[in-house]
Amino acid sequence: MNKLKVLITREEIERKVAELADELRRDYQDKHPLLIGILKGSFVFMSDLIRKLNIPVEIDFVKLSSYGAGKEPSDKIKQVQGVKTSIKDRHVLVIEDIVDRGRTVRFLLDYLGRRKPASLKLCTMFDKPSRRVTEVPIDYLGFTVPDAFVVGYGLDLNEEFRYLPDLCVLEDQE
Ligand code: IMP
Repeated sequence: MNKLKVLITREEIERKVAELADELRRDYQDKHPLLIGILKGSFVFMSDLIRKLNIPVEIDFVKLSSYGAGKEPSDKIKQVQGVKTSIKDRHVLVIEDIVDRGRTVRFLLDYLGRRKPASLKLCTMFDKPSRRVTEVPIDYLGFTVPDAFVVGYGLDLNEEFRYLPDLCVLEDQE
């Protein structure tokens, strides 16, 4: 049995999204950036962020696989669904839910970097630096979280809990 404990409340998340949006608005005001979200986890953050940004942006999504079923990641990242929009000479901002071991984002940044964008940056809502196995430059960060499996605000365990408005820790219960 799993028990959910709130780690970051919906109010804290809402305030942080507004802060990030202010920062991004200053940096991307006249650049008509292309925001690329990593499915499925980033869809909640992406939709909150673009509505707070209040500047013209284009969005796209890419689907990569890293976690199979359960909590343990697999080592191989393979691209499942690519970017539809041409990114050459565009200001590209990758939107991620959580950077954990770092492999997912590293793979995508390398893949996008080869396609010659005008700029390429990363915005992630959550970061779990204690688990990192590869270096990832985070340009815009919401919250650093401890080494625990978290769900809610788009994040799942076996496709459950994405709908929770707070970020929660799953605790095993006897
Ligand atoms: P990485 O390649 O290890 O950085 O994995 C990143 C991906 O793993 C994220 O996009 C999430 O989909 C998933 N992930 C990592 N940590 C968690 C977690 O605590 N809860 C839910 N999903 C996670």
